[in-house]
Amino acid sequence: MKEIIKDIDIISPEEATACETVQVSKDEDTGKSKQVYIESYGCQMNFSDSEIVSSIMKENGFDTTSSYENADVVFLNTCSIRDKAEQTVRKRLQLFNKVKRTKRPEMTVGVLGCMAERLKSKLLEEEKIVDLVAGPDAYRDLPNLVSKVDEGQKAINTFLSREETYADIAPIRLNSNGVSAFISIMRGCDNMCSFCVVPFTRGRERSRDPKSILDEAQDLVNKGYKEVTLLGQNVDSFNWDKDDQKVNFANLLQLVADISPELRIRFSTSHPKDITDEVLETIAANENICNYIHLPAQSGNSDILKKMNRTYDREWYLERADAVRRIVGEDCGMSSDFISGFCSETEEQHKETLTLMEHVKYNLSYMFYYSERPNTLAEKKYEDDIPLEVKKRRLQEIIDLQKEHSFFRNKADIGKIKKILIEGVSKRDENQLRGRTSENTVAIFDKKEYKIGDYVNVKITDCTSGTLFGEIIS
Ligand code: SAH
Ligand code: SF4
Ligand code: F3S
Repeated sequence: MKEIIKDIDIISPEEATACETVQVSKDEDTGKSKQVYIESYGCQMNFSDSEIVSSIMKENGFDTTSSYENADVVFLNTCSIRDKAEQTVRKRLQLFNKVKRTKRPEMTVGVLGCMAERLKSKLLEEEKIVDLVAGPDAYRDLPNLVSKVDEGQKAINTFLSREETYADIAPIRLNSNGVSAFISIMRGCDNMCSFCVVPFTRGRERSRDPKSILDEAQDLVNKGYKEVTLLGQNVDSFNWDKDDQKVNFANLLQLVADISPELRIRFSTSHPKDITDEVLETIAANENICNYIHLPAQSGNSDILKKMNRTYDREWYLERADAVRRIVGEDCGMSSDFISGFCSETEEQHKETLTLMEHVKYNLSYMFYYSERPNTLAEKKYEDDIPLEVKKRRLQEIIDLQKEHSFFRNKADIGKIKKILIEGVSKRDENQLRGRTSENTVAIFDKKEYKIGDYVNVKITDCTSGTLFGEIIS
């Protein structure tokens, strides 16, 4: 782990996720005359957006490809959350630019997503490493922007919308196992946490028409999918109040859960200030809504939380975490995000993050050290004054403690029987299968006669801090 920290600023116990994850479009041949390659970075919302982009491009004569070398159009769907994320994207853009200059001058290179929105015309006009720039709300304009490039014009659209939810666009599932899919239920964020670029790159919060969400979920069930994850930066503030229809997040969860008892429902991300008892009760009342809540704390110290503009304090957070255990169940899976070394954080304040972790004992956390982002409230108001070595040392302490807690949680499952949805074949052994418990922990077991998409009861016999091992009993 120590070695990894030198290179990346984001680590979960078993795997680096979020901005270190990259998703590449698959090969699809439906006889279209042109090909688009899409490489995506960042959060699940970005991956979900790439599926919308594929759909829009398909309507306009493009099949997706997994090889940028053969593509007519190369799109990089980017993330701005930390500096490291942007550095990775820059390296890729330089590579694509080189391929274009040396081998394929007719190829169009476009930057999409959060970095496109943040830097606007900079990559196009100053740095001249892309031909096209489109922000997260401008994807319907992509075919037009591509034509503009073909005509030798500048192609940029970073307009942020208050309405766009792409509700009517059927996403083309890019890297799906045919079992699990993501559904965006809202876009943007109104929270203005002081460290965060998302409100600037994704614009104002807006909820998607629940009918279109239910139609998408029903369509997935019809196609044999067994799990959907409802996505939003703050799902608890989902709110639809139009056409005589009022739907909050708890109502939406219930409506999706009613589609089929065979469909598992997950969601992300819950905001501690907004998660209600009604949501927790809805989870408790429905077997197919998974017992897992991602409830990012960011810090365990009230003064730091105030500076972060999270609008809750330590006591509020702990009360909500306790409510999860009380209403959903003592062993409900819980995870968090933490930022070490935020502006002016003292050693004592950092220790309060560790004691908060001790209280909750999360199954998993996504842990980062603070990376100052241009134009955020924190950049304007506070000095980024914690030395990098201190940020990294504190991060390592958080990671070490999380690893202990993950192991503690997994050990508690030994001897239990868990219902698992099979999602794939184990990476290490093709005679073994991989799936997740309702609490979102990965489990590995022998294949027997079962296949991807089946539900099985597995008796847990062993574990590491990241994985459960067991045997299928039915
Ligand atoms: N909407 C989600 C978070 C989206 S960003 C929420 O409110 O929880 C995912 C995570 O990235 C955040 O939870 C935070 O832990 C981390 N993050 C965001 N900005 C960061 C920054 N400037 N430096 C380090 N980590 C950051
Ligand atoms: Fe960023 Fe805060 Fe919005 Fe999450 S809730 S996306 S951390 S501003
Ligand atoms: Fe990154 Fe944008 Fe998601 S900044 S984390 S891709 S919303």
